[in-house]
Amino acid sequence: MTIPKPVSYSRTTITELMIPSYANFGGKIHGGILLSLMDKVAYVCAAKHAGTYVVTVSVDNVEFRQPVEVGELVSLHASVNYVGRSSLIIGIRVISENIKSGSCKHTNTSYFTMVAKDENGQPTEVPALVLEDQNDIRRFLESLKRKEIKNSYKELLDNAKTSMEIEENLHLLENERCVIANKP
Ligand SMILES: CC(C)(COP(=O)(O)OP(=O)(O)OC[C@H]1O[C@@H](n2cnc3c(N)ncnc32)[C@H](O)[C@@H]1OP(=O)(O)O)[C@@H](O)C(=O)NCCC(=O)NCCS
Repeated sequence: MTIPKPVSYSRTTITELMIPSYANFGGKIHGGILLSLMDKVAYVCAAKHAGTYVVTVSVDNVEFRQPVEVGELVSLHASVNYVGRSSLIIGIRVISENIKSGSCKHTNTSYFTMVAKDENGQPTEVPALVLEDQNDIRRFLESLKRKEIKNSYKELLDNAKTSMEIEENLHLLENERCVIANKP
């Protein structure tokens, strides 16, 4: 049995300067650059708690609310919000700062599910999480709720997909912006 670890033990921040090569054709930072940084900070945070190699299993709630500009400093704050047996949910808050004005914007908060693996590549148990304050408790409870909602959503989606008859649903496309090239 491993010793429980507090949330503060693995809390991680990565700060990175947004350089011109990170920009897209519109001059803003590529979403993929931010996703890659989020994956990196999630890895560091999860691996520190688990004390093992970890892999990314799923990514939730990635919604960029505001563009990030070249020259801004992006900070990604990560903490373990929840642990199961081998899985960990890492909450990541992304803040972008304009160096000259000092103004900060919250671009997104996302949740990465990571799984700890042993030397044979099998999921392995992670230490329990010591919740140190009300925020830690709130985040753990929210993660439980999010897991429950995600599972029921997945079930609904799977059922909707398997029970969908294309012919019976063609009328739903009438007001959509699509053209059926070869009508069945
Ligand atoms: C993640 C992975 C280990 C799950 O394998 P598995 O045979 O389903 O293993 P288990 O059923 O024991 O699940 C392990 C844990 O993953 C969790 N899990 C599995 N699929 C999940 C999903 N889609 N979303 C969230 N959690 C998931 C399970 O709930 C379980 O958590 P717990 O131990 O805390 O209860 C396996 O799918 C894998 O290795 N995927 C590739 C991950 C990877 O390489 N990522 C890098 C991207 S290239």
